[in-house]
Amino acid sequence: MPTSRARQIYVGAGLVFLILHSLPFAIWAMHSGALLLISPDMSENRFYTPGGTVINLAIFAHMSLGALLMVFVPLQFWPGLRARFGAYHRWSGRMLCLGSALVGLAGLAYIFVRGTIGGFWMDIGFGIYGVLVCLSAGQAIRYARKRDFAVHRRWALRVLVLTFGSWLYRLHYGVWYFFTEGLASTPEFDGTFDLVQNFAFYLPYLLVLELWLRREARTA
Ligand code: HEM
Repeated sequence: MPTSRARQIYVGAGLVFLILHSLPFAIWAMHSGALLLISPDMSENRFYTPGGTVINLAIFAHMSLGALLMVFVPLQFWPGLRARFGAYHRWSGRMLCLGSALVGLAGLAYIFVRGTIGGFWMDIGFGIYGVLVCLSAGQAIRYARKRDFAVHRRWALRVLVLTFGSWLYRLHYGVWYFFTEGLASTPEFDGTFDLVQNFAFYLPYLLVLELWLRREARTA
């Protein structure tokens, strides 16, 4: 078993690795969301709904807020931060749970109003993803308020894994196209790879987390 000092170093290094690797995507997502404010002409943007003020605000804010989550959610797990800066952990935790729920709800609203580019199965995959994000964020804050910090930690870890699902989705595509040049993937997102992807960017990672949490509970 690693000492608690070694464990802190591993966790810190893992978080830095995660933030730095997802940073290019987070910057791109932040910029994609900001286009609603800074672009002189949105008519060619496929997420833009002419005359749809509320749904436009929702989906473009979703992109920028999601980018912020990818930087700030991992910091909640920074070793020693909660003990030394408890007020920061609590306040940013509230903001991040609220932010996660808003990102999830905005994504769900977009699915409901416009539907995804991939159609039915992408609506289902992303819909379940949105519900899980809202559920995990709600449970994380609920158990923190109940001061049941063991259960709070489990839900917060689920929020962490789900936050990076959006990045993992693109990462899977990048790796797949690099090695296969897009085998079983179509511009309409209805190839076998696309269909699997609708669930593969979050379900396997959640499963690994659940197995790890069970193992941890058994060995505690
Ligand atoms: C947490 C981090 C998240 C980030 C950074 C993020 C970012 C983005 C970005 C940048 C886009 C535009 C994609 C493009 O240009 O191709 C997008 C689209 C979308 N996002 Fe998210 N998102 C996040 C979470 C979620 C969640 C939790 C949901 C759940 C409902 C969701 C649902 C969607 C949907 C449905 C679209 C439109 C898909 C399409 O038709 O192409 N996202 N998101």
